[in-house]
Amino acid sequence: MLISRPRRNRKSAAIRDLVQETTLSVNDFIFPMFVMEGSGIKSEIKSMPNIYRFSIDTLLEEIKEVSDLGIKSICLFPNYPEAKKDKYATESHNPDTLYLKALSEIKDKFPHIALMTDVAMDPYSSDGHDGLVENGEILNDETLDILGKMALAQARAGADIIGPSDMMDGRIGYIREMLDDEGFTNVSIMSYSVKYASAFYGPFRDALDSAPKFGDKKTYQMNPANVREALIEGQLDVAEGADFLMVKPAFSYLDVIKTMADNFDLPIAAYNVSGEYAMIKAAAQNGWLDGDKAMLEMLLSIKRAGAKIILSYFAKEFALLKK
Ligand code: PBG
Repeated sequence: MLISRPRRNRKSAAIRDLVQETTLSVNDFIFPMFVMEGSGIKSEIKSMPNIYRFSIDTLLEEIKEVSDLGIKSICLFPNYPEAKKDKYATESHNPDTLYLKALSEIKDKFPHIALMTDVAMDPYSSDGHDGLVENGEILNDETLDILGKMALAQARAGADIIGPSDMMDGRIGYIREMLDDEGFTNVSIMSYSVKYASAFYGPFRDALDSAPKFGDKKTYQMNPANVREALIEGQLDVAEGADFLMVKPAFSYLDVIKTMADNFDLPIAAYNVSGEYAMIKAAAQNGWLDGDKAMLEMLLSIKRAGAKIILSYFAKEFALLKK
């Protein structure tokens, strides 16, 4: 006779629920959203079904809806027309700019929402890179000043969490000091600590029209083959004052999430990126996968690996399913 029968712990839904180790809650999610100029706009992103670019007015309506579903944190990204872009990403810290206006209106109407921003030059850069380009090179230290101005402008507009996604060296410390000097000691920083040069950002670059005009991002984003480097990035970010450490993308990097969770005590976040969303959506639309089940399994695996926080385009659908 068999003494040990692991199946006994799977024999009913009640027992399965009792022994379930990992659970997902709407509290775990940050919902990334896109804003563009204009009014009355809700424009679907082709490669991201059911995800839209909103003008500020319709964005506020959508935030009301997701907030009613229990989502308490959002992250905002802007889409700018080519005419607003330049080499120095000047528009990013123009006080009248779309992005900053959107942030302050959101904070004004939804003070309870944790509002996260994006700090990087790419949405505003005529080169489509996250840093300042000179003779085909992405300059590190010269970029820091632009990122600092951007972060400060976002803090002034009401941001709760600043999200540097640029991967320049030293930017967390630079931004922390600039925020503190101006009295924004309570504004948090979620560092995109471990961000890989990934093919899974494709649909996001469609959403922003922000693909690099030349080359790739391999001199600043990490090589997908490496995990030891993640520890170096994490150590630097802790020392420089980060409040959260993020791994991005998530699904092909579960081992990296686990390594970060095992080695750092700060909360670990993972970005379930646009391409991961698009894969499930495309397969589901073809009838090749059960979209809801695949979504839940993907999200659960990211949490199981060690991410407490998940940035995901699925956040609203997840909240709707749990309603
Ligand atoms: C750029 C940025 C990117 C994403 C977030 N911030 C793309 C990139 O680095 O090219 C990707 C998010 C996604 O794919 O969902 N600063």
